[in-house]
Amino acid sequence: MSVPTSQKQWLVKGKENDFDGLVYQDGPIPKVGENEVLVKLNGASLNYRDLIIPKGMYPFPLDLPVVACSDGAGVVLEVGSKVTKWKKGDRVTTLFNQGHQYGPIDIAASKTGLGGVLDGTLRQYGVFSETGLVSSPKNLSDIEAATLTCAGLTSWNALYGLKALRPGETVLVQGTGGVSLFALQFAKAAGARVIATTSSAAKAAKLKELGADHIINYVEDKNWGETARGLTNGAGVDHIIEVGGEGTLTQSLKAIKFEGIISIIGFLGGAKPKDNILEVLSGVCTIRGVYVGPRSLMEEMCAAVEVNDIHPVVDETVFSLANARDAYEYMWAKKHFGKVGIKIE
Ligand SMILES: NC(=O)c1ccc[n+]([C@@H]2O[C@H](COP(=O)([O-])OP(=O)(O)OC[C@H]3O[C@@H](n4cnc5c(N)ncnc54)[C@H](OP(=O)(O)O)[C@@H]3O)[C@@H](O)[C@H]2O)c1
Repeated sequence: MSVPTSQKQWLVKGKENDFDGLVYQDGPIPKVGENEVLVKLNGASLNYRDLIIPKGMYPFPLDLPVVACSDGAGVVLEVGSKVTKWKKGDRVTTLFNQGHQYGPIDIAASKTGLGGVLDGTLRQYGVFSETGLVSSPKNLSDIEAATLTCAGLTSWNALYGLKALRPGETVLVQGTGGVSLFALQFAKAAGARVIATTSSAAKAAKLKELGADHIINYVEDKNWGETARGLTNGAGVDHIIEVGGEGTLTQSLKAIKFEGIISIIGFLGGAKPKDNILEVLSGVCTIRGVYVGPRSLMEEMCAAVEVNDIHPVVDETVFSLANARDAYEYMWAKKHFGKVGIKIE
């Protein structure tokens, strides 16, 4: 495949004009440096973060204008003269924080997020450092692989980044967003038991299909933390994927086991928890903030996805690159189940 001289891309130009700050235009194809790789991107997927960047609600560093979106997957077209990891034709997926290679994240690496500080994936071609990519799992399409960059890796980091999940343990996942559905799938593949919460009966049926062992409707059962604990004979759950924040942390503290881990990933229900943080002592648990994850964990996750033939849950409505703004509106209107995919020609 020959490389053209220009491409279509979505830029976030500003954060004052809502999704009007997203602009679809022609852009150059960056030149490949000696340690870099040119990738033909074939798939992307959206995260809540991508939506709140143009809306001006994202609290972390940005360098605008920037090519939107962190999640992408495609095929290597060209490699720089010193590249050793990749060759033409390899299938690759982007790493969220390009500088986060292994171990704990540091401040410098936290400023290397695709689609925020560095140019992202809503374009036909991208140049990335050879260490900013991982091999796509062979069992996945490029759109499926793209979903691993942010939601997948965040979930894997929650379950394996501090204290690895073990067979027979219990994981509680909140709601049916992308991160929680990955955690459900990863936990089942690990031989763990899953308690899932949702606000919707229709989504409860889908959770059952994905293998959830117990489902609690968190709107009908306001005391779902105690209910979850009851499902473990009173011992409590080992890992909690905490995405609700203000809306859920009180209940999570009721559900967690001694020495269990509550991974704070999002705050969809508000950001001001009223809880007394000292309950961490009486609960003898760890509350841990998680920020996506390093390449080393992403490689482990991709291996597990391939060996266990895990397919990420992708919403049935898939958008084209030209219609990517509609994907933003669709997700903002909460019409999605699982990940929102974008096919890039
Ligand atoms: N820290 C990180 O590195 C990181 C990485 C990725 C994402 N995040 C954050 O994690 C959060 C989840 O991301 P996502 O991509 O999974 O989002 P998403 O796909 O938009 O998740 C939406 C779902 O969350 C559930 N939900 C909403 N409010 C809830 C509440 N109060 N209690 C329980 N569930 C609730 C709902 O499930 P039901 O419809 O079933 O009720 C809803 O459908 C976001 O805040 C995102 O910004 C953080």
